[in-house]
Formats: sequence, C-alpha cells, structure tokens
Amino acid sequence: MLEEGEFDKTVTRNGIEVWVTQMGDYMNMNTAFIDRRNGVVAIIDPFDSVRWAEELAREGLKPTHLLYTHTHRDHVVGYSSMIKLNPEVEVWGHEDARVPELVNHVVFERVDFTRTWKNSRNTSVEWDVGSISLIVTHSPGHAPGHVTIHGHGVYHAGDLLFTNGMGRVDLPGSNPGDQWSSIRHARSILESLPEDWRLIPGHRYGWIDGTTPDWVSIGDALSYNYALNDPLLDEL
Ligand SMILES: [Fe+2]
Repeated sequence: MLEEGEFDKTVTRNGIEVWVTQMGDYMNMNTAFIDRRNGVVAIIDPFDSVRWAEELAREGLKPTHLLYTHTHRDHVVGYSSMIKLNPEVEVWGHEDARVPELVNHVVFERVDFTRTWKNSRNTSVEWDVGSISLIVTHSPGHAPGHVTIHGHGVYHAGDLLFTNGMGRVDLPGSNPGDQWSSIRHARSILESLPEDWRLIPGHRYGWIDGTTPDWVSIGDALSYNYALNDPLLDEL
C-alpha cells in the first residue's frame, strides 16, 4: 500500500508514464499521465499540489493539465495552490460539473475550468495531447458532470466506482438513477478493456478480503465489485 504522498511509477510500452499516489484523510487516489518527450503532465484530481509539484520538479517536470473527475471539495482541494504554482496549467472538467447552483454548498468547491467536455451522459470523448490518449466518459450520478478517464493501462474511476463499491448518491446534486445507469455503462467499458489493467478508485477503501489495496485489476473488479455485480443492473 502506498504511504501518504508516495508515488507508484510505471512506464508503458509506448513510453507514457503513469504515476499513482494517495493523499489525505480520505485516501484520495490521484493518477498522472506523463509524456516526457512532449512535455505533457496531466494529473487527475491532484490533492496535495505542493507534494505533486515537488515530486515532478525532482525529475524536471511540471504539471501542464489538470483533469477533474468532479468538483467535490476533496477532489479539487489542490486546485488553488496548483494554479498559484502553475498559472499556465490547463484545467479540464465536464461542463455539467461547474454546478453554479451548488458551488457554495460545503460538498463542492469552485474550479475555473479553462476547457470543458460537453458530451452527454454515457458517451465518451477522446482526450489527446502529445502522445497521451485518454477516453473520457460522462458518468453522472454521484455528482453532476462526473467523468471516468481511462487509457495507458488504467481506468481512473473517480467516485463512480471504488475497488469493491461505488460512490454515495445521497449528496446534493447526486442522482441514484443516473448512478446506476453510469455503472451499467462503466461495466460495458470495463468488459471491453484488458482485464489486467488497473482500476484506480477515487478513494482507497476496503477490498473483499479485508485488505485496502491501492487498486485492483479490472478483472477482479468485474468479478467482485458489488455495484458492478448488482443483478438490478440488467433490469435497467
Ligand atoms: Fe465525490
């Protein structure tokens, strides 16, 4: 298991690096995709931006893109410090995650996206920068404008899915019906991906055997995650 602020770093066959860390009291999981040749560093939901900047600087890198799964406070808590450190960074999220009517609620925090995805729910768009190529799927339910992001051997689930469960749907802006629809769609995506890819959850919670792994394989998630295996999914 990763210590707070410890980084797991892997390099894919085409040279894209994937860095994963966990940070904060709720064990938020962050994933970054790094293309050194083109100077691209895209981080999903950076929690502790100072720690991120420090680790990247050790290797002569700096963030170029922030990709937000949703705008709950614990996922965007690093936003303002990241902007101070890197004013030029591009900030991406789904248009529906701006939530002007909810942004003052304690659960949310304002993020000024510089670019947005606008795809309708349960559809995907490609996000290509340098040699990084990701699929962004609009998957609302836990929060408006929630997205999952996958590519380069990982499926970053945000708070749609945890290793053994799913995000809560009792918060302002949550929609349980949309959540189950998003999970059913996610299952079809996961079934299309190599089963040894990693499912990175938005938070590191308990797994079926009592351990608390940083991630599980997509194959294991499909076999054991209770939400992905809910019989009601087939009745939607
Ligand atoms: Fe959340």
